[in-house]
Amino acid sequence: MSQESQLTTALAEAATTAGHAPSVHNTQPWRWRVLPDALELHTATDRQLLAGDPEGRLLAISCGAALHHARVALAAEGWRTVVRRLPDPGDPGLLARLSDLTPTEPDPDAMRLVQCMSVRHTDRRPVSDEPVPTDAIGEITRAVTAEGSRLQILDRDQVLELAAAAGHAGSVEAEDPELRAELAYWTSRADTGTGLPANVLPAEPTQTTVPSRDFGRPGSLPVGPGHDHAAVYALLHGDEDERDSWLRAGEALSAAWLTATRLGVSAVPLSAVVEVEGTRQTLRQVLAGIGFPYLVLRLGIADPAHAGPPHTPRLAGEQVVDTSAVRGGRP
Ligand SMILES: Cc1cc2nc3c(=O)[nH]c(=O)nc-3n(C[C@H](O)[C@H](O)[C@H](O)COP(=O)(O)O)c2cc1C
Repeated sequence: MSQESQLTTALAEAATTAGHAPSVHNTQPWRWRVLPDALELHTATDRQLLAGDPEGRLLAISCGAALHHARVALAAEGWRTVVRRLPDPGDPGLLARLSDLTPTEPDPDAMRLVQCMSVRHTDRRPVSDEPVPTDAIGEITRAVTAEGSRLQILDRDQVLELAAAAGHAGSVEAEDPELRAELAYWTSRADTGTGLPANVLPAEPTQTTVPSRDFGRPGSLPVGPGHDHAAVYALLHGDEDERDSWLRAGEALSAAWLTATRLGVSAVPLSAVVEVEGTRQTLRQVLAGIGFPYLVLRLGIADPAHAGPPHTPRLAGEQVVDTSAVRGGRP
C-alpha cells in the first residue's frame, strides 16, 4: 500500500472507531470527512437537540468525545497528528482538523484505551455499595486535567445542592412540551441506529439522592433496589464557556470515561442540570466562581451480580464518514 493510501485508510478507520463515542441522547451529531492528508470533524446539525441544546453546548461536548476517540485511535495505530480546533472562523460547522500526520511507534496506553471504547457504555442502574477506589478517582481526574479541563469531586453538601438542582432541572424540562416531544423522538428511533432503545433505560425510577434524568417513558432495564450512597459525583468544568472549551470538555469526558472503564468504574453523565440556565448558574455557585460547569458525572462500581444494559446502537460508518474525497478510501 502506498503511504498516501495507508494514511487515508488510517484516517477513515479512526473516524469509524470514533463512532463508539458517547453523545447526548445517542444523537451522534458528527460527520467526518477524510481528505488525502487530513481528517475533518464537522457538526451534523440535523442531529442537534434544538429544544434541549439550542446553543450547541452538548453537541460540541459529544463531538469532542468523538474527536478524542479518533485521536486515541490514530495514536494506537502509530500516527502522530496535529489537531486544530475550530480552524476556520468562516465555517463554524468545522470543529476540528487533524493533519500533519507522521508515522511513529504505536502508543500502548492508547491501544488499551481503544480496547475500552467498545466496552464502555452508560449503565443507568444505581451503583453498588462498593466504594470507588481513591486511586481510581485520582487517575480519572488526571485524565481530565491532561485534556485541559478540570474535575471537581463534590463533597456531601455539594451533592445535596446538586440533588436539589437536578430535581429542579427535571421539573422544568418535564413541563416544557417541546423538550418532551424531543425526548419522545430520541427514545423511539433506535431502529435507525441513533437514540435510546428501551432496554438501556430503567424500567422504573431509581431511588437515588441525586435524581437521574427522567426520559419521559419507562424502559425495560431492571434496576433493583440499589441507591447511590457509594456514588461519587463530580463536576467537569473549565475556564471558559465557549465552543472551543465545550469541545475540549468532550475530549476530557472521553479521556475520563475510557480511563474509568479501564479501571472498572462506571460513569453516567447528568446533563439536564447544565441544559437549564438557572441550574447551570447554581452549579457555577457550587464551583464558587472558579470555573464554568460543562457536565456532571456520577462515578461508581456497577452492580456485579446482574448483567448491565446492552450496547446502544450506532449509525453505520458510511453514514458518518465521508470518504468521497479520497480514491480507494474506506469504509
Ligand atoms: C454530553 C452528554 C450528555 C449526556 N447526558 C446524559 C444524561 O443526562 N443522562 C443519561 O442517562 N445519559 C446521558 N448521556 C449518555 C448518553 O445517553 C449515551 O452516551 C448515549 O446514549 C450512547 O450510549 P453509550 O454511552 O451506552 O454508548 C450523555 C452523554 C453525553 C456525551
